[in-house]
Amino acid sequence: MAPNTFVLGLQWGDEGKGKVVDALAPDYDLIARAQGGANAGHTIVIGGARHALHLLPSGVLRAGKECVLGNGMAFDPEIFLQEIDRLARQGIRLQGRLYVSDRAHLLLPYHKEFDRLSEEGVGRIGTTKKGIGPCYADKALRVTAIRVGELSDPAAFRARLKDVLARLNPRLRALGGKAASPTDLADRTLRLAVRLKPFVRDTVTLLHDRLGRGRRMLFEGAQGAMLDLDFGTYPYVTSSSASVGGVCTGLGVPPKAVGEVLGVAKAYTTRVGEGGFPTECLGAEAKMGERLRTVGHEFGTTTGRPRRCGWLDVIQLRYAIAVNGVDAIAMTKLDVLDGLKTVRICTGYRLGGRRLTSFPASAALLGRVRPVYEDLPGWTSPTASARRWADLPKAAQRYVLRVQKLCGIPVRMVSVGADRGALIHLSRGRA
Ligand code: GDP
Ligand code: IMO
Ligand code: MG
Repeated sequence: MAPNTFVLGLQWGDEGKGKVVDALAPDYDLIARAQGGANAGHTIVIGGARHALHLLPSGVLRAGKECVLGNGMAFDPEIFLQEIDRLARQGIRLQGRLYVSDRAHLLLPYHKEFDRLSEEGVGRIGTTKKGIGPCYADKALRVTAIRVGELSDPAAFRARLKDVLARLNPRLRALGGKAASPTDLADRTLRLAVRLKPFVRDTVTLLHDRLGRGRRMLFEGAQGAMLDLDFGTYPYVTSSSASVGGVCTGLGVPPKAVGEVLGVAKAYTTRVGEGGFPTECLGAEAKMGERLRTVGHEFGTTTGRPRRCGWLDVIQLRYAIAVNGVDAIAMTKLDVLDGLKTVRICTGYRLGGRRLTSFPASAALLGRVRPVYEDLPGWTSPTASARRWADLPKAAQRYVLRVQKLCGIPVRMVSVGADRGALIHLSRGRA
C-alpha cells in the first residue's frame, strides 16, 4: 500500500508536479495542498486536452478523490470560483469532495495591488503579482489578516474589513495605489462567500478523521524547494514554506503522517523571475537556453513569462534532497534533451579559486559562483514513445543513472512527454 506521499518540486517550481500528482492520484484517497495560492500553475494534459490549475489540487481531475485546500494557503475566492466553474463546464463537479480550510488566509484584490506596486520599485522579486507576499505578510502581522472562516459572520466580516482597510488604505495611497472601498469590497466578497460556503470546513478535523480511517493522502507541493521562504534563494523566493515542513504547518498533520517524499525534478533546470541561477545558459550558451525554452515550451502557466533555462544542477538538488529528506526522484521532461550532442550536469561550484561543497545561503554569493560541469554523450533517437526503461536509448539511461548516483537516491519515475500516459515507472531502486 502506498504511504502518504509528499510530491515536492526540487528546483524553482514548474518541475511537472501536476503531472506527477495526476499520475499517482489513483493510488490515493485524498489530495491536499498545504501552501501557496494562485501563483502556482500546474498543467495536466489528458488525451491532448490541457488543464491548468492554480488553486485547486491536481487530484480534482480524478473522479471520486477528495481534495483539500489547507490552512497554509493564500486563498483567492475569485480564482477559486473561476476554477470550479470552468471544471463544472467540463462536467467535473466538486461539491462534496472539495474542502477549503476555514483557517486559510483570504487573499483579496488589495493584496494584488500591493504586489503590483512593490514590483514597480527597485529590488523587485519578479513575482507572479497574484498578491501572495502581501497576503502572507498580513498573516504574519496578524492585525491586517482575515481568514476564510470569518466569512461565515457577514456583520463581523464587514467590521473587520473596515478596520483592516483603515490601516492599509493610507499605505496603498502613499505608494500611489488605489484605495479599496470597505463597503464595495465587503459586498463583493460576501456575494462570493455564499457560493464558497458549501466548500468551507475545519479541514484539520477532516484530515484527522481520514487519517484515523487509514485513508491514503497525497500532498501536492506548489512552487519548489528553492522558492521556499526559509531554504530557497532568499529573497528571490515565494512567501510560504514550500518544503516538507510546510505540509505539517499548512495542513495540521503531524510529521509522521508524511510517509514518503517524492521529489520532482526536470532533466534540466528552469526558473521564472529574478534571483541566482548558477547553471543558466547565458553568453556562449544562450542558444542552448533558447533551445530548451522552445523545445520544452518553457513559458509560465500562470503569467506566460519565458522561463530562464539551464543545465541540471546536482549541488542544488542535493541541498533540496537533504533539507526535505527526499526518498526518490521523479525526473520529468527527459524528452526535451533528445537530439543534443552533449548533456551537461553541474557537479560543483567554483568561487574564485575555491570549490564550494555546499549550497550558499547568500544571494550575492550564489550570483558569483561558476558551475563545474560533467559532460555526458547525448542521444539521437526520440524518447517520447518510451514506456519502459528498456525503451530508452542507452545514453539516456546513462544520464538518468548518473543523476541517480550523484543524488544518492533512486529515480522512481521518468516522464517523456506532457500527456498523462507519457511516463516510465521504475520499480523501487530499479534504474
Ligand atoms: P508544475 O507547476 O510543477 O505542475 O509544472 P508546470 O505545469 O507549471 O510546468 C510543467 C510543464 O511541462 C507543463 O506544461 C507540462 O504539461 C509539461 N510537462 C510535464 N512533464 C513533461 C514531460 O515529461 N515532457 C514534456 N515535454 N513536457 C512535460
Ligand atoms: P508552481 O507551483 C515557478 C516564483 C515567481 C517569483 C517568486 C515569487 O507552478 O511550480 P510570488 O508570486 O510567489 O510572490 O513570486 O516565485 N514562483 C513560481 N515559479 N512556479 C511556481 O509555482 C511559482 N510560484 C511562484 O516567479 O520568482
Ligand atoms: Mg507551474
